[in-house]
Amino acid sequence: MFGFLFFACLSVLLAVLFIPRDWSTKFGNELPQAPPVRLISRHELSLYDGEEGSRGLYLAILGQVFDVNKGHKHYGPGGAYHFMTGKDASLAFITGDFTESGQTDDVSGLSPLQVVALYDWLAFYQKDYNPVGRVTGRFYTDSGQPTEALLQVEASLAEGQRLKAQSQAEREHFPACNSEWSAARGGRVWCSSKSGGVERDWTGVPRKLFTPGSSGSRCVCVQDPSTAENPNLQEYQDCSPHADSCPIGE
Ligand code: HEM
Repeated sequence: MFGFLFFACLSVLLAVLFIPRDWSTKFGNELPQAPPVRLISRHELSLYDGEEGSRGLYLAILGQVFDVNKGHKHYGPGGAYHFMTGKDASLAFITGDFTESGQTDDVSGLSPLQVVALYDWLAFYQKDYNPVGRVTGRFYTDSGQPTEALLQVEASLAEGQRLKAQSQAEREHFPACNSEWSAARGGRVWCSSKSGGVERDWTGVPRKLFTPGSSGSRCVCVQDPSTAENPNLQEYQDCSPHADSCPIGE
């Protein structure tokens, strides 16, 4: 028994003494350091607009700078998107206002869903172009920390993603109807197992869906013909509650 304990203690002691010095770096918390992010001032960024004598071809979106020289035909002088270079014109990606006043990084007026669309553009640049660093000012401080403006955009992004997921779930629960209109036969709405672009194992029946707070309705397919439990659903006039196709007036 004592012999066993002696050998056990000796093994632990030897293990502690001979563990390589960099053991903690390899397996512990000290992960290899990422290279520091390059911080670029607005002025320095403006020197990368691809014009004669410029230092290169960069653009920024949401404060992140990318080298877009690979897309010279779009971004170089004479290209349709040349105005985007040497600056952060985030707002123009959503408004399509490419005039001087539209070329701003002030995105505080965008709706949450527009912010989601702006982040889709950011994802496009992250996928297709090399990152260069961060432009200081609106979205990053002089020490590279996110500003209050960036935190607000990120909060709006989270809200936009929530809204998008909600409307996606709604579209799947209440897929849109097919519709057609002809002068001879008038209009009709109908359900199929692919209507509204939602593939499913049920067809459903057409109902008018009213959105609280907005006028008008749209045709959706509901799985359960009983509309009693949802006050926003209404049957079509002159159409059997179980029919999968209903005539509609003009
Ligand atoms: C909000 C409005 C718009 C924005 C922000 C925008 C932005 C851009 C950007 C940044 C590129 C370059 C993508 C790359 O790096 O490869 C691009 C390419 C292109 N855009 Fe737009 N665009 C807009 C509207 C339009 C419209 C209305 C049209 C057509 C009528 C159009 C047609 C094109 C075409 C044809 C390309 C080139 C595709 C290729 O050759 O790879 N864009 N757009």
